[in-house]
Amino acid sequence: MEGFAKKADGSVRVVKKFRSRAHANPLSDDHIKNPSSPDDFDYAAFYPGFSPEKRIAYFDIGSGYGGLLSFMAPHLPDDLIIGMELRVQPVSYAQEQILRQRNPSRGSLLEGEKMDEESGKRRFLEKDTPAVDLSPIPVEKHHFNNVACVRCNVMKAFHRYSHKGQAKGLFILFPDPHWKKANIRRRIVSQTLLDVYAYSLKIGGHLFIATDVEDLFHWMCDHVDTHPLFERMSEADQEKELTSAEQFVFKNITEVTADATRAQRKKPTEKRHKIVYRRIIAKKETEFSRFFE
Ligand SMILES: C[S@@+](CC[C@H](N)C(=O)[O-])C[C@H]1O[C@@H](n2cnc3c(N)ncnc32)[C@H](O)[C@@H]1O
Repeated sequence: MEGFAKKADGSVRVVKKFRSRAHANPLSDDHIKNPSSPDDFDYAAFYPGFSPEKRIAYFDIGSGYGGLLSFMAPHLPDDLIIGMELRVQPVSYAQEQILRQRNPSRGSLLEGEKMDEESGKRRFLEKDTPAVDLSPIPVEKHHFNNVACVRCNVMKAFHRYSHKGQAKGLFILFPDPHWKKANIRRRIVSQTLLDVYAYSLKIGGHLFIATDVEDLFHWMCDHVDTHPLFERMSEADQEKELTSAEQFVFKNITEVTADATRAQRKKPTEKRHKIVYRRIIAKKETEFSRFFE
């Protein structure tokens, strides 16, 4: 599908209408359907072959095109992983990618392609979308039944996917910076959301954060540092505490997603920041402590 846009000099250029918007408004998403509670989530449909009692262990919050999901799945074959993403096109791309990894006879998406939801045809997507399997484990050796992606506004519906203390790890990779003062409330790290993330994480579970935006990195760290239920982990602690698969995933998280690739292409010399927090029992007793322990 193509349309036309007028340039400043009055000439006309063709634009691709199916190109994904860079942002969706998380404060207006009333049409998205989510389960009414974690028990209402259709595990059988999303994770074929896994027992319905098995709960999701790893959540990729704002998963974009699902690069982390495909990367993680073979390394954590016994754990369920979910990507949660607000925008339609990245979700359909990630879902299609997962289906193709489960069933290679569907073919693989080529760099820069996606499936158009309505027509089912391949469409151009974005330069930086990783369309290849980034895992060093050969695809054919893994089933990819342990990974799924859903359309979800985490600001409103994260809690519908997770019971208290069920998560082993949450990932927030290259989140939108939302620079304007009025839009800071759209960031997916906030004290309120950290409460929800803390509720979902088991004690000793981990929150993994990465970004290429230094100011945002410090801003997020300030929020998590001041939250009573999270504590920074040193590199030595990470080596002791994270499983070898988690360590491997963390080592690579600034490489494997579409936004990681974009950051690498646009600002190859700039540092990418990453950090791990541990979910702890409240540093200080509060009137709400009983909800979290
Ligand atoms: C900059 S992209 C990064 C995507 C991916 N993590 C990566 O590294 O490539 C941030 C993603 O978060 C998604 N997002 C922003 N707010 C969200 C929300 N409230 N709920 C779910 N996803 C959200 C955006 O749609 C976008 O795809």
